[in-house]
Amino acid sequence: MTLTIVTDNDQAPRRPPADMADRIAYGMTRGLRFFADTFFAKRYGHRAVVLETVAAVPGMVGGMLNHLKSLRRMQDDRGWIKVLLDEAENERMHLMTFIAVAQPNAFERFLVLLAQGLFFNAFFVLYLFFPRTAHRLVAYFEEEAVVSYTSYLAEIDAGRTLNPPAPPIAIEYWKLAPDATLRDVVLAVREDEAGHRDVNHAFADALAGRRTDLPHATELLASAPPTAAAVEASAGRVAA
Ligand SMILES: [Fe+2]
Ligand SMILES: [Fe+2]
Repeated sequence: MTLTIVTDNDQAPRRPPADMADRIAYGMTRGLRFFADTFFAKRYGHRAVVLETVAAVPGMVGGMLNHLKSLRRMQDDRGWIKVLLDEAENERMHLMTFIAVAQPNAFERFLVLLAQGLFFNAFFVLYLFFPRTAHRLVAYFEEEAVVSYTSYLAEIDAGRTLNPPAPPIAIEYWKLAPDATLRDVVLAVREDEAGHRDVNHAFADALAGRRTDLPHATELLASAPPTAAAVEASAGRVAA
């Protein structure tokens, strides 16, 4: 009998766009995916480093703008700010982890500078005027991140990419076993990305059609689909 870890991360249905705003967010995501696939191909370590520098931006922008909105309106933020800032910190830790695995070349460092300058400002304006679309865009980015890390795992499993010991910073952050490897790190990161995907889809749904009386973030997180860890736990981690 072969043991198969039950996980919903790579099989979770990808969310079809429901309206024009969703289709624009989805189209942008697919366009950026094409450029990433073309530029990085199967250099997953480099891909992770460069794209994580971008992934850590939306949570900080969204957290900051919700913080400012809470101050302006003198209203509670319904727990959204902390969730978004936590997402930014989590993405930054992905970067701190992968920089120990792959070092970007000079051109990639230039791309990071360029991308941060463009993306921070573009996302700031998008979130300011169209927060629902901004969250949907991030959710689609995260769907792609889950797919990319699944491909990274496949490369490691096929022996085409080295599977060195996990960096100490990753072992400490995710509380991994002392002998954990890069594969364990990629699994943990993919789990995080699936969580961001669900949170951002839930935030976009909550913002659809209403600007006030938003649900508390904990209610949204409670109604999000179960994570792979929960699925594994309920399935006893093993399927036939
Ligand atoms: Fe990430
Ligand atoms: Fe992410």
